[in-house]
Amino acid sequence: MYLTNEQEAMLNGEDGPVLERMFRLLVRLGDIYGAERMIPVGSVQVAGVSFKSIGLPGTDFLEDIASKGEKVKVLTYLNPAGMDIEDWKELGFPEEFAQNQMRIMDAFREMGIVVTSTCTPYLAGNLPRFREHIAWSESSAVSFSNSVIGARTNREGGPSALAAALCGVTPDYGLHRDENRAPTVVIDLEAELKSNANFGALGYHVGKLVKNKIPYFRGMENANTDQLKALGAAMAASGAVALYYVEDLTPEANQQDISGLETFSVTDSEIKETYATLRTGEEPDIVFLGCPHASLREIADVAAQVEGKTLRKPVWIATSRVMKEAAIRMGFDKTIEAAGGRIVADTCMVVSPLEQMGYGTTAVNSGKAANYLPGFCKQKVVFADIADLVMEVE
Ligand code: F3S
Repeated sequence: MYLTNEQEAMLNGEDGPVLERMFRLLVRLGDIYGAERMIPVGSVQVAGVSFKSIGLPGTDFLEDIASKGEKVKVLTYLNPAGMDIEDWKELGFPEEFAQNQMRIMDAFREMGIVVTSTCTPYLAGNLPRFREHIAWSESSAVSFSNSVIGARTNREGGPSALAAALCGVTPDYGLHRDENRAPTVVIDLEAELKSNANFGALGYHVGKLVKNKIPYFRGMENANTDQLKALGAAMAASGAVALYYVEDLTPEANQQDISGLETFSVTDSEIKETYATLRTGEEPDIVFLGCPHASLREIADVAAQVEGKTLRKPVWIATSRVMKEAAIRMGFDKTIEAAGGRIVADTCMVVSPLEQMGYGTTAVNSGKAANYLPGFCKQKVVFADIADLVMEVE
């Protein structure tokens, strides 16, 4: 692989042992995938933030790196943590878990990483531009940035993203390169999609169908960014879709050659069947919305639906701290809390220790959350539209 003088120096340990170790990791990765050079990245998003995911070994590793004083070279955000960093106590997160989670946040802060924990960094101050190279980890954010923004990233692991943040570069392979970004399968949408959950169900179905291919959708008109993030998140969870195109809607879609590609159609009946597949429970203990993290529009919609009502089950909405602050300014938090719900920042249903907190059945409107909750959190799942989940008693 061609390396600049500066990069050779990093590799030879001239910039210290942390950068040597991190740069070696990037070179190894590049060698495996046949990269010919490193490319500078505009921003990084690091996954592996929740104490639930990385445990004590991961926490010790991060503290060790942080103690060496090395700082990130580019704007770097974090994926959701295991709890709301401010309101964890009143929300019922375990004390010991919280202490360990704070150790992780402190270590990241030491490295100069913005401790805004969210899977929607593009809504919270970390917005890549069209064709910008970035190194992001979270699969739904990877999908959104590749597909809806037209930026370029592979799905990084936690360590490779951290290495990219500290070194400022990533190996040039995979979705960074034009030749790997062509669609490989066409999806003709014949279903009528109304709710965000409909898009999540579509994503879950298509992800299972196409696995790691690059789908090109036809027949999807006017999907908004919330719906596209729900679609991409679910496709990345049930398959390994990191890039998709929507005709007339997403960047570079109309320049793609789709002639001769294998084609599938999706009708209302597949969407309906997916709802049934994703439903493994009956009576939820909690309704947990905001996967991927809710936008202000989604929070406003929930506030409008619960205003003046009393919720039968607690409804939590996961979002970024930035979005929660905006919601507070608009008074949405008060409306939602008066009905018995909460806006929860920094975390989500999958990376929080729900099973330790006494929850056994969780209701969601997200195809991605429905995919992961049984395995990651031992939850039964009720998958439905928000309107059906936000149940009133009077
Ligand atoms: Fe985000 Fe958690 Fe869903 S990280 S995409 S809210 S599983």
